[in-house]
Amino acid sequence: MWKRGALGAVCLAAALTGAQAADPERGRLLHGTFCQGCHDESVAKRESRVAKSYQELRRQVARWQSNTGLNWQPEDVNDVTAYLNTTFYGFQCEGPDC
Ligand code: HEC
Repeated sequence: MWKRGALGAVCLAAALTGAQAADPERGRLLHGTFCQGCHDESVAKRESRVAKSYQELRRQVARWQSNTGLNWQPEDVNDVTAYLNTTFYGFQCEGPDC
């Protein structure tokens, strides 16, 4: 009986915290498939890069997936943002999108 209770608590905790943490490895695959053809790492490394915070980087990712008509889910945007951030940007990330 107690086992069932414990399992219920885990499920509830998962439901309350929402989706899993962003997955940079999944983001790498998504980026490699849909984004890399156009710009490689040079965009993220350029001096004049647009993104100056994690939230701005996420907005750029959201803008680009929209520009290219991909219709990504928020998790997809989060994963690609996490990939770009861990690989190139290194911003502090706070909040539910990390
Ligand atoms: C049609 C070509 C093209 C495609 C496809 C494309 N990009 Fe871009 N991207 C660019 C160009 C050019 C820039 C730089 C100019 C600008 O910011 O408008 C850029 C800039 C960016 C930046 C801002 C970099 C910075 O900090 O300055 C991000 C982030 C980005 N792209 C992410 C993505 C993602 C994620 C995808 C895939 C969903 C994607 N791009 C697909 C051409 C493309």
